[in-house]
Amino acid sequence: MQSKPNRSFESEFEKDVYEGLTRYPKRLYSRYIYDEKGDKLFQKIMAMPSYYLTDTELGILEEHKTAIAEHFKSLGEAFELYELGAGDGKKTKILLREFVEQGLPFTYRPIDISAHVLQVLQKAVIAEIPEVHMDPIQGTYFNTLREIKHQSDRAKVVLFLGSNIGNLLHPQAVEFLRELKDCLGPKDMLFIGFDQKKDPQTILEAYDDKEGITAAFNKNLLHRINAELGGNFEIDAFRHWESYDPETGTARSFLVTESPQKIEIEALDLQVELDAWETIHTEISQKYDQKTIEWLCEQAT
Ligand code: AVI
Repeated sequence: MQSKPNRSFESEFEKDVYEGLTRYPKRLYSRYIYDEKGDKLFQKIMAMPSYYLTDTELGILEEHKTAIAEHFKSLGEAFELYELGAGDGKKTKILLREFVEQGLPFTYRPIDISAHVLQVLQKAVIAEIPEVHMDPIQGTYFNTLREIKHQSDRAKVVLFLGSNIGNLLHPQAVEFLRELKDCLGPKDMLFIGFDQKKDPQTILEAYDDKEGITAAFNKNLLHRINAELGGNFEIDAFRHWESYDPETGTARSFLVTESPQKIEIEALDLQVELDAWETIHTEISQKYDQKTIEWLCEQAT
């Protein structure tokens, strides 16, 4: 294994790629899948019938929107509706419409690091539900929420949908919930989507579609390293591999190289070797049961 000299990195991406490829077993973080191409592939994943998460969550929101709105109404005052990772807003719009119909006094404040994502979302919301008062915020989730905590004492509701929490290992999820708790007051609310444990085959098929869309999504990490850091991964030699452990509820994605590769990454001045059938772990998608959700919440308080 290559020793780690004292180096400086130009970005968090560089640092994480360096660390991930010089450890054993190798790993890369799934958050780096999402550039423009990764975002498009994720949109395609959400439209796949086998990726049940999106339609299930849409169905839940559609079925329970009245009760959800009534729950937020119980705050008894105007509130700010923060959303972490709104994407195209398809799910949120179901709630926004219902809130408008029920006359809830709220401002919709999606938070995203990408100004482009926010612009597209704002345009769509204005066009489709012009009654919504919208005030997007460009920034990282916690920096933004921390700042707001000191600026405004209006009630807050935070939405975190899509089982995005599932991409965090339990200790990270606890840390995430703790940080979120520190940003909220006693009357504020968190509305979060957890994907539940189910038939293991259904889960495997959601993350290993026959069309190869999830494989392309996973491999986009290597495309980014090749394009942005001057890497030379032979991407076609990698197989996308999915595993699911029904006991822990953890779905794990890997890239497995069929043949040995000598990788050079110019921007990192790094050479690493991969043996045939060596793996790079790229993503976890955690599935939950009620006990685990309660345990997470207890740990975070
Ligand atoms: C964004 N996240 C919740 C998705 C998931 O289900 O873990 C990302 C994804 N990876 C493969 N397919 C979808």
